[in-house]
Amino acid sequence: MKYPGIILLLFIVFMQGCYYDNKDILNPGTGCDTTIVTYSASVNPVLTAYCVGCHSGANAPLGVNLETYPNVKLQTGKLFGSVNHSPGFIPMPKNENKLSDCNIAKIRKWVAAGAPNN
Ligand code: HEC
Repeated sequence: MKYPGIILLLFIVFMQGCYYDNKDILNPGTGCDTTIVTYSASVNPVLTAYCVGCHSGANAPLGVNLETYPNVKLQTGKLFGSVNHSPGFIPMPKNENKLSDCNIAKIRKWVAAGAPNN
């Protein structure tokens, strides 16, 4: 064989293609990965991006401060209901679009796990 290295390389590239195809089938369309959900990597970035603009400091609305874990933990009972727009909860983020299904799924999973500080 004249170019075994090239053939091997093409084979590896081809196999990579198969790997990504399979991953797409496992997570159809959304690209939403909720396999591992933590406060620091999953929940805090969402709250920082969509909530902390209003929910911070001494004058946070209804005393709901979402800046730090201990304060967020206090709101565990309302967090999912508000972002999911469940009946009986004030829908959040206030006057803005509902969070993505992926971000809501992450919050639901984290709350269901007991809102751990991880
Ligand atoms: C534009 C400002 C604003 C943003 C952004 C916002 N909130 Fe609020 N939030 C409020 C206000 C004001 C209230 C007080 C109730 C009211 O006036 O509707 C409130 C109330 C709440 C409450 C208490 C609800 C209750 O039933 O007691 C929770 C929980 C809450 N927000 C969570 C969130 C979360 C989670 C986000 C981000 C996804 C968020 N908020 C984004 C302004 C905001």
